[in-house]
Amino acid sequence: MGVAVADFDHTAASDADIEALKQAVYKHKIAVLKDQDLTPTAFHDLGKRLGRPEGYYEPMYRHPDHPEVFVSSNVPENGKQIGVPKTGKFWHADYQFMPDPFGITLIYPQVIPERNRGTCFIDMGEAYRKLPEELKEAVAGTSCRHSVRKYFKIRPQDVYRPISEILKEVETKTPPVVHPTVFVHPMTGEKVLYISEGFTVGIEDADGNALDEELLKRLFEATGQLDEDQTHENIHLQEFEKGDLLVWDNRSLIHRARHTTTPEPTVSYRVTVHDTRKLYETGA
Ligand SMILES: [Fe+2]
Repeated sequence: MGVAVADFDHTAASDADIEALKQAVYKHKIAVLKDQDLTPTAFHDLGKRLGRPEGYYEPMYRHPDHPEVFVSSNVPENGKQIGVPKTGKFWHADYQFMPDPFGITLIYPQVIPERNRGTCFIDMGEAYRKLPEELKEAVAGTSCRHSVRKYFKIRPQDVYRPISEILKEVETKTPPVVHPTVFVHPMTGEKVLYISEGFTVGIEDADGNALDEELLKRLFEATGQLDEDQTHENIHLQEFEKGDLLVWDNRSLIHRARHTTTPEPTVSYRVTVHDTRKLYETGA
């Protein structure tokens, strides 16, 4: 998994270069653009070359001067919290809990930890192929329900609000969505098992009847998502260094920020884009 791309300059890249980069992302799942030196605006412009950016729906994650850029940071600027600390420490695909998730995620690390650097990934196309036949049969024709509720982060303005009111707001603003458990990747034709321990909250048959939760658990287990040591063979640790900009396939990859026992300064910017197709057209 993964390919390194040297000498990429989004301001000079031709449309054919951009298409080649996207094809590399679909094929190798992660492209690491080396030696990038971009302002937040230039990072957003790079995203625009790949598709239509979608900013994050919760304002507290947005860069104060560049709202289209999502910020994960535990480093205050001038004494002020910018973005949100400790994001994504659970298996997920970005915007999986939304009706229309985007195909491509771009992450541009700004402050890189000394020790626990990198992000863990699981290729859910490959994970699907490796499932035992009986699990493949069990999920055929099913759909899954996804919600942000387990990992919705309490905002500063939520302090002193009753938890029931916050939960109700989450359910109203982002009601659970249903996606096929397995879909065909529209760019590669591969079958993808579209579930994550963080966002997937239920599985149901073709008529919408809930199935035993045990099935979901077995799928999480089989794909490596319940491995707390993160040593399962499906897990790929993608490391990065200053200047690296990661572009990945948000259809087939789920990811998780690394565990840190001792917190280290970490800052990264994120831009997410819709490419020319929906996340999926049909289930598989
Ligand atoms: Fe994420």
